[in-house]
Amino acid sequence: MFKGAESNIYLTKWYDKKAISKIRIPKIYRQRMLDEDLRKKRTISESKMIALAKEFGLRTPYIYFVDPIRAEIVMEFIPGSRASKVLSSSICFDIGKFASTLHSFNIIHGDLTPSNFIVNRKITMIDMGLSFYSTRREDKATDIRLFKEILKSTHYHAYSEFFYDFLDGYKSVNSKELEKILQRMDEIETRKRYAVA
Ligand SMILES: Nc1ncnc2c1ncn2[C@@H]1O[C@H](COP(=O)(O)OP(=O)(O)OP(=O)(O)O)[C@@H](O)[C@H]1O
Ligand SMILES: [Mg+2]
Repeated sequence: MFKGAESNIYLTKWYDKKAISKIRIPKIYRQRMLDEDLRKKRTISESKMIALAKEFGLRTPYIYFVDPIRAEIVMEFIPGSRASKVLSSSICFDIGKFASTLHSFNIIHGDLTPSNFIVNRKITMIDMGLSFYSTRREDKATDIRLFKEILKSTHYHAYSEFFYDFLDGYKSVNSKELEKILQRMDEIETRKRYAVA
């Protein structure tokens, strides 16, 4: 079993296939009815997003079964390592492609970190628990900013190289839009600098 921030992850079987059961755990600090409602909505939303991303041609787990009441998703088990453990230029390039494809369909990932991707021969996006629909450049910029910040804190030595690889991957899908999103990102970063000054 793996304990995530939001959920418990169990290795299980779906018929004869290895599967993952992701169950969102109750949060005691939330009011009970509100908590149940939130877990139910996030379970439905995540399973839809994972299936939708697959329709866009992105590699995500097959969803086998969803139980909103138990806040459970049973999905394909993806063998491999978390991208955060084996990060490289080509993995960052690929994550950039995932992000750009999602953004071109106006889906914001919401938690774009290497630990939400699994790498074997190919790379698979496994966690879309915080994904949502938005056409705003600011939201797309926030995805990119989070990825940059995580790289800075976990891979400082190679951070700028990996971030450029990510941007190259992003551009390879949609270069025109990236310019505008990066401009937005600069504005957010400047605003933040003034806010803390
Ligand atoms: N389909 C899958 N196949 C293989 N491993 C998986 C799968 N889904 C989740 N895992 C494993 O469980 C971990 C946590 O899953 P996930 O990121 O979906 O949950 P989470 O509650 O959002 O956790 P976190 O807060 O760490 O992001 C993953 O990093 C991965 O190691
Ligand atoms: Mg996760």
